[in-house]
Amino acid sequence: MRENDQTMERSGLILGIESSCDETAAAVVRAGGEALSNIVASQMNLHANYGGVVPELASREHLRNVVPVVRAAMEQAGVAFEDLDAIAVTEGPGLAGALLVGITYAKALSFGLSKPLIGVNHLEGHIHAVLMEARQRSEMAMELPLLALVVSGGHTHLYLANLSKEGAWRYRNVGRTVDDAAGEAYDKVAKLLGLGYPGGPWIDALAARGNPRAVPFRFGRIRSRGHREDSSFASPSGKKEFANPSEQQNFDFSFSGIKTAVLRYVETHGMRERVEERRKVLADHPEWGPRSVQAAALCDSQTLDLIASFQYAVVGNLLRQTFAAAEVFGARGIVVSGGVAANSELRRRFQSEADQRVLPIAFPSLALSTDNAAMIAAAAWPKFVAGKFAPDTLGATPQLRLG
Ligand code: KG4
Ligand code: ZN
Repeated sequence: MRENDQTMERSGLILGIESSCDETAAAVVRAGGEALSNIVASQMNLHANYGGVVPELASREHLRNVVPVVRAAMEQAGVAFEDLDAIAVTEGPGLAGALLVGITYAKALSFGLSKPLIGVNHLEGHIHAVLMEARQRSEMAMELPLLALVVSGGHTHLYLANLSKEGAWRYRNVGRTVDDAAGEAYDKVAKLLGLGYPGGPWIDALAARGNPRAVPFRFGRIRSRGHREDSSFASPSGKKEFANPSEQQNFDFSFSGIKTAVLRYVETHGMRERVEERRKVLADHPEWGPRSVQAAALCDSQTLDLIASFQYAVVGNLLRQTFAAAEVFGARGIVVSGGVAANSELRRRFQSEADQRVLPIAFPSLALSTDNAAMIAAAAWPKFVAGKFAPDTLGATPQLRLG
């Protein structure tokens, strides 16, 4: 190898660090397009006992994991610390204590190595997970603007993404949840049905066994941004799924109502005892995963129908809002990311709708759908090129907004 090639091989290397919630992650990405490593230490089992993320425990686990996770990412990439061009870290949104662990470690590394530090918005990271993989597959760049749906346990946001003349990404938030995130609704509904944590994979697996049209859930009106607008959701009765987009300028979401509707259904249909029984059996068998036959056998047909109907309604709502916004804002492509983007029904229905509209659509691989650090290093690349580095005073911003 000539010296020039060696220099090329070692250029544009960014170490990403992510610790905003319950995953400690580190990755080395070259020039925003090639992940040389991607290490994720999940705390899922720890928090599963509580049915949700416990912030204090999350911070302690990050502290324990951050050094070994970074070391593993460097080893997997076969890269020495001196070869790095920059350190990128999630600065928000997320849990304050959890964010501080990653930021403090990234700052220490940046200081010790005299390498620039780049602060990255976690939500921008989710969007760049998809763009990075599209680049890796050497697909033609998606045309802009893009409509990005970021849908996870903490977020349900729609962004119109475009590049400025200077090559910086610009985001306009055109929709967001006014209460629970979609993933949160998955987690809460799974919990109230006595299923495991996190709920998304359980509902995803079990929904395939039920009738999605059995329970016609309907979304109500959303009060958002100071005005009321009609936002009825896709009904399982087969009603037209799309309102006239020109009449629908509100692309906000609300998922707390459907969670309450599921709870009410459980109570009014005498399902409580069966839920408690299922909860007990699953607690005694942590080895039974969402796709196990034993887990499916614990659910009677009424429960499976309820699960399938919940998912059908949620995915229908996400789909309708996303495509309506894409039409109104003239998006040339759609990007879906975040933990809920791993959902199989969501992928199938979004793909089919995009095909019908001849609109390019991209999802991250399953590994990059949930929280990871490759997406943080990828999102940092355009900032590195533009020389947009974080100050020494970089802090955690739990409510950091994008756009
Ligand atoms: O992006 P992520 O790892 O963390 C956040 O930033 O929130 O997303 C986690 C969320 C959880 O609510 C989980 O239940 C949901 O993503 N999730 C799913 C699936 N896999 C994970 N939701 C629906 N279907 C899935 N297959
Ligand atoms: Zn996330």
